[in-house]
Amino acid sequence: MKPVQVGLIGFGTVGSGVVRLLTEQRELLSQRLGSDLVLKKVADLDLDRPRPVTLEPERLTTRADDILGDPDIDIVVELMGGLDEARQVVLAAISRGKHVVTANKALLAHHGNELLAAAQEQGVEVAFEAAVCGGIPIILALRQGLAANRIQELFGILNGTANYILTQMSERNTTFAQALAEAQEAGYAEADPTLDVEGIDTAHKLAILMSLAYGARLDLDSIAVEGISRLDPLDLQFAREFGYSLKLLAITRDDGYRVEARVHPTLIPRDHMLANVTGAMNAVYLTGDAVGPILLYGQGAGMMPTASAVVSDILDLARNLSLGVKRRVPPLGCEAALNSTRLIKPLNDLVTNYYFRFAALDRPGVLSQVSGILGKNGISIAAVIQKGREVKGAVPIVMITHEAREADARQAMREIDELPVISPPTIFYRIEDPHLHAAQI
Ligand code: NDP
Ligand code: HSE
Repeated sequence: MKPVQVGLIGFGTVGSGVVRLLTEQRELLSQRLGSDLVLKKVADLDLDRPRPVTLEPERLTTRADDILGDPDIDIVVELMGGLDEARQVVLAAISRGKHVVTANKALLAHHGNELLAAAQEQGVEVAFEAAVCGGIPIILALRQGLAANRIQELFGILNGTANYILTQMSERNTTFAQALAEAQEAGYAEADPTLDVEGIDTAHKLAILMSLAYGARLDLDSIAVEGISRLDPLDLQFAREFGYSLKLLAITRDDGYRVEARVHPTLIPRDHMLANVTGAMNAVYLTGDAVGPILLYGQGAGMMPTASAVVSDILDLARNLSLGVKRRVPPLGCEAALNSTRLIKPLNDLVTNYYFRFAALDRPGVLSQVSGILGKNGISIAAVIQKGREVKGAVPIVMITHEAREADARQAMREIDELPVISPPTIFYRIEDPHLHAAQI
């Protein structure tokens, strides 16, 4: 059978892992494919930078066009990152009838509908297993393994950098800046780490997972996003005192009419499986109506785990090429996905439990003023911690609430922040705790 030829654009962290797998595992991959899988060319702007893997100079180029214009190359792998140039590169590959593999979740979240429509038009495929959770085959699971299910809810720790920072801060008292620097050093972080710590990368990935879960167009703008960059270590301590871990979660839930779409720091019980996902590890905990709960766990970032996913896509496309089949499974798992949308539940309509931390003057009657406002807004308190007088000035009062509407929680917070005995702003986080729901019944 004719060898399948691959061109790679972007010889950085992930690109180096892909080069390593395609060269060092060439025999294994060719055996699995049944024909030779050849890495023909690799493009990068800087060919002199030291890399963990080397290639003969004749396979290297600084021009992406040398790959896009090569008629022998069947599959273009985009690992350059970024948005505008990557979009041009992917569109150019598609227009030349080449299949594309990308790990670029930002590109997919912003331009995925356009790119997938262009690929459909040209009869080529765009594969993106590495774009969500690095080495965990979550895209394959949603596209194929769970195809018989309606996905009822999905919780994800989708960003290794943010999870690494939260773990280091809570378990080792590391500062935010130090933990971020370590994640950058390890190659987990994005070129612009704001994407990691502000929850934007997690939102990019959630947009992709929601499209697959619901068979609908990508809709990044509908996701409510809050990050971890302003997190006070005090809240990690209080969370622990209440029996919770604080995680940056991607959450979507289908009530049959509307779907939730949110990314924010979330308190979860310390005995929840996601609470034990530490360091740069990723996990997705989802419930399908037929299969019940499923947990997928593994390395969501880094050179080799991400390269593992990229090469699985290359192999899959190469198999299709060898067999002469195309687009057997639609990219979003549903033929009608690009023409379908889901109604999003506005954040104000969310009903969940809340963690509030007020900074209050240590005077008689403060607690009753605060709880009075919460009561007036229909919010019932499940637990309280008030710290003693050893703290000068304002003392922290921390409350956990029973289920309340987000709009009511925000209104109560505004009113409480106007009290003369309170130093605003009040801190609040959402809680996902089924035990707390049960406790209210
Ligand atoms: P890197 O920055 O390490 O690598 C990107 C490489 O592409 C750099 O060497 C860059 O060169 C090169 N490049 C940029 N523009 C061009 C161009 N026009 N032509 C040729 N080469 C170009 O990024 P990563 O490998 O970390 O990430 C690559 C992609 O994979 C991103 O989309 C990222 O979001 C995604 N990803 C990364 C993961 C990770 O753990 N790192 C995990 C999952 C996904 P130069 O540096 O000189 O600009
Ligand atoms: N910056 C991302 C992370 C890379 O930390 O998870 C994987 O997508």
